[in-house]
Amino acid sequence: MSILVTGGTGYIGSHTVIELLNNDQEVIVVDNFSNSKPEVLNRIHTITGKNVTFYQTNIEDKQAMAQIFKNHPVDLVIHFAGYKAVGESVEKPLKYYHNNLSGTITLLEVMQENQVKNIIFSSSATVYGEAHKAPFDESMPTGEASNPYGYTKLVLEKILQDLSYSDSEWSVTLLRYFNPIGAHHSGLIGEDPQGIPNNLMPYITQVAIGKRRELQVFGNDYPTHDGTGVRDYIHVVDLAQGHQKAISHNLKNKGVAIFNLGTGQGYSVLDLIRAFEKANQVQIPYQIVDRRPGDIAIAYANPERANQELNWRAQKNLYAMCLDSWNWQKKNPEGF
Ligand code: WQD
Repeated sequence: MSILVTGGTGYIGSHTVIELLNNDQEVIVVDNFSNSKPEVLNRIHTITGKNVTFYQTNIEDKQAMAQIFKNHPVDLVIHFAGYKAVGESVEKPLKYYHNNLSGTITLLEVMQENQVKNIIFSSSATVYGEAHKAPFDESMPTGEASNPYGYTKLVLEKILQDLSYSDSEWSVTLLRYFNPIGAHHSGLIGEDPQGIPNNLMPYITQVAIGKRRELQVFGNDYPTHDGTGVRDYIHVVDLAQGHQKAISHNLKNKGVAIFNLGTGQGYSVLDLIRAFEKANQVQIPYQIVDRRPGDIAIAYANPERANQELNWRAQKNLYAMCLDSWNWQKKNPEGF
């Protein structure tokens, strides 16, 4: 099976490529390194002993994308490429709408022109918005996003659904990720944020290693067991395995299928800090500050559909996630 992975050197993309290679898939990676490094490819080789075919290409470059499809038979595309920083998307909405939407539309056009109509798309739990009460399940109507990044996920889900309604040959799998953390157990690949991390776990690991003085906890007046926000943290290797499981479902079923990839278990910010301190025997100094605009109190998945239909279940607990995040950070204090 030949699988084209866009954004395959990013955080979730690289972990997924490893799972694909370990399952003897042939992998073609397309990435423009806008938020990743070439070194990722060496690390993937070290971990798996296998090579991927790599193209340094922007998915908006239609000619280059068309050439890739001419060079290789492609059975299915896993589409990760896209900008993902929530705060930056508020400051630069056009950058986000332009890149995430037009990049994906170009990819879909090239796929259609080459009769490749199987796609797995990286969506996000952010599409549930604020209207629902957790656990979120896939049958709930999607809500309002609180930022342009979130809207790009909502709109891209809609575009893929419309494409499938227009042409029943398409197989579209929408994977809604909850909060991926952790890293490959080798410590060779992991999350490598540029600048100040937006997300909780990379901020914690940078405090632990002394790069940042203390963590700011955004609000302790939410209606949760300790007042801090609750999320469904999922080990990135579990998430990556969800993609491998989604492939056979995608190839067997035409139309649109939507799956939450989460553990079903919610932990607060303070739970995560304590778990990290206990697992790794380090202190994480923090102070409570105001809520962050756009955050919701509680988000966690109902993962039943993926459990049943993909035969997939998250295996790794919070302790393992904390160990692996720290292992990656310690071994790579400056990232890749
Ligand atoms: C988790 C919890 C914060 C940082 C976001 C996007 C989502 C997806 C993943 C990705 C919340 C609290 C955080 C900090 C804190 N997008 N927090 N101090 O907001 O659930 O999801 O990332 O590519 O679309 O919205 O994840 O890790 O930012 O926050 O207290 O310095 O940690 O308030 O409760 P979030 P997060």
